[in-house]
Amino acid sequence: MKLINNSILLGVLFISGICNSQNTKTAQASLKNSFKGDFYIGTALNVSQIEEKDAKADALIRKEFNAITAENIMKSMFVHPSKDKYDFAMTEKFVAYGEKNKMFIHGHTLIWHSQLARWMSEIKDSTEMKAFMKDHITTIVSKFKGRINSWDVVNEALNEDGTYRKSVFLNTLGESYLADAFKLAAQADPKVDLYYNDYNICEPKKREGAIKLVKYIKANGGKIDGVGIQGHWRLDSPSLEEIEKSILAYSELGVKVAFTELDITVLPNPWDLQGADVNQSFEGSAKMNPYPKTLPDSIQNKLAERYASIFKLFLKHKDKISRVTFWGVHDGQSWLNDWPIKGRTNYPLLFDTNLKPKKAYNSVMQLKELENNKIGKKKVFKN
Ligand code: XIL
Repeated sequence: MKLINNSILLGVLFISGICNSQNTKTAQASLKNSFKGDFYIGTALNVSQIEEKDAKADALIRKEFNAITAENIMKSMFVHPSKDKYDFAMTEKFVAYGEKNKMFIHGHTLIWHSQLARWMSEIKDSTEMKAFMKDHITTIVSKFKGRINSWDVVNEALNEDGTYRKSVFLNTLGESYLADAFKLAAQADPKVDLYYNDYNICEPKKREGAIKLVKYIKANGGKIDGVGIQGHWRLDSPSLEEIEKSILAYSELGVKVAFTELDITVLPNPWDLQGADVNQSFEGSAKMNPYPKTLPDSIQNKLAERYASIFKLFLKHKDKISRVTFWGVHDGQSWLNDWPIKGRTNYPLLFDTNLKPKKAYNSVMQLKELENNKIGKKKVFKN
């Protein structure tokens, strides 16, 4: 009788154990829940996602991500199309979406040489440029004061060799525009986190340039809280060593490190491109679009391994990393299908075109399961 009672008890415990672990699993089975306490997990949103046009995509965004960046609508050509006109209609929707879903809201971007309104690129002298910067930054940052959590104040100010890019801002004002931009943003919202954001700043020369730039801004009275490493990466580069060196080098400057536009191309490179200059484009060919229908398992596996090793490194340095944001929700809408060659089929994200999690998603999630198991085991031993 006692034996029967014991086995019934064991059975009950076993079943309730399964239920409990399943409950915890459902509660945890998302990127944002798995990495809670480590860093925010973000995504870039396009217009249709901001407007909640696709219910399936919307459900996925709300389930998996707790931070958002607007992929395009907050760029200067859209929010400030002519000198005396601002258009915040889409930004309002974007911010409201983030607030409704209790997400971390990132502003992208205030000062960038690309996707500028034509009138801005035609500014010729320093007086006019100074007036533009003051009006542009103050108006936009004040408008969303207390509602936007961090800003890319300056985007892509560096060349590949680490020197300053000859943009309309540098040409009219010299390097002082960098410190001024950060000062103006801090004056408009003293509490918001301010970032310098760029691609390829894990490469040694450009990294040196970015370090100098941060130091220059600080030395000249600008408040800078973080460096955004865009993370438009490839299957085999940058190396984990260079990524790690970069995390350490930037955080030694006393700023946060964010990975702001993460995606990993699996397609061949037309000119051995390393970077993300949105103004470059090339002719396509069948050779350049090798996986128009599906991604072979071998590459799917490589992508999963690459994502796992990158996230393992992120976890190692989670105390220095504020946010990891993917540049898009799923493969079907990634900008890498059209850049740098139009009309290709790329597979750079964790969700496929049907919004299903890929092997790469599982490999990233497994890292946390392993970590949690280790902690669990340690606790058992301690008891
Ligand atoms: C890209 C968008 O994804 C595209 O839709 C757009 O056509 C061009 O810009 N660096 C940045 C992002 O800071 O704003 C860029 O986004 C990608 C490179």
